[in-house]
Amino acid sequence: MNILITGATSGIGKQLAEKYLAQHNQVICCGRNEEALQKLRNKYGKQVTTYCFDITDYEAVQLQLAEIHDLDLAILNAGTCEYLDMPEFDAQSYQRVLTTNVQGVANCLEAVIPKIKPNGRLALVGSSASYLPLPRAEAYGASKAAIEYLAKTLMITLKPYDIQVSLVCPGFVKTPLTDQNDFPMPMRINADKAADYIISGLAKGKAEIHFPRRFTGILKLLSKLPFSLQRPIISGLVSRH
Ligand SMILES: NC(=O)c1ccc[n+]([C@@H]2O[C@H](COP(=O)([O-])OP(=O)(O)OC[C@H]3O[C@@H](n4cnc5c(N)ncnc54)[C@H](OP(=O)(O)O)[C@@H]3O)[C@@H](O)[C@H]2O)c1
Repeated sequence: MNILITGATSGIGKQLAEKYLAQHNQVICCGRNEEALQKLRNKYGKQVTTYCFDITDYEAVQLQLAEIHDLDLAILNAGTCEYLDMPEFDAQSYQRVLTTNVQGVANCLEAVIPKIKPNGRLALVGSSASYLPLPRAEAYGASKAAIEYLAKTLMITLKPYDIQVSLVCPGFVKTPLTDQNDFPMPMRINADKAADYIISGLAKGKAEIHFPRRFTGILKLLSKLPFSLQRPIISGLVSRH
């Protein structure tokens, strides 16, 4: 397969890239960290193509991805997370998270959708944070709720064009992103396991891939409750440092 992965330099994206490369696929790895991209080129040679760009830079995304073609699978995984601490609402932090996680994905979608082969697949990496309004995730949760909406809309609107869409909603995964967290992360799994869940879900053609199911199942159940009942339970989930 010919696979494109954004955020392939670290965490979940890097594990996905390494696993798909180990399975002898052609993988287009994207990220900003040129050193990490160089390491992938050194290790996998012609099997890997790398592009170094910031997904928030519209011109750079279109320019860099202009020459890609015939994608069987595009995984838009690059993302960031910053938590807010009320009562100080940091609008610049909010902008950084929304710009990367939402506009950055939109920039990639413009470049990538026309390059997906008929019957190919597009996967957007959201988060199980979009299931519930989690404390301190005012920015991150909102950005991932936007991704959930976007992915579900694209599932409908790209279907007539023979492009299948998957939404990936991980629970907590141990990566440099979550290493910054200063609160307990229940049922956190490693990036290797997360990549296995994603690869298996995509191979089965699943529309929504969420894991670990014990954790995401609880969040999904809670999300069915009226907000007045959710609120006291959620308040204890992500405590302040
Ligand atoms: N870890 C979790 O618990 C968890 C849970 C739910 C969802 N997710 C989602 O999973 C995805 C991957 O997260 P991760 O935990 O693997 O984080 P990570 O280890 O920090 O990796 C993030 C990746 O995104 C890339 N990236 C970030 N901002 C970028 C930008 N502006 N332009 C280009 N590339 C950019 C980084 O590239 P460079 O380093 O090269 O800049 C890096 O490769 C994210 O969308 C995240 O929201 C993670």
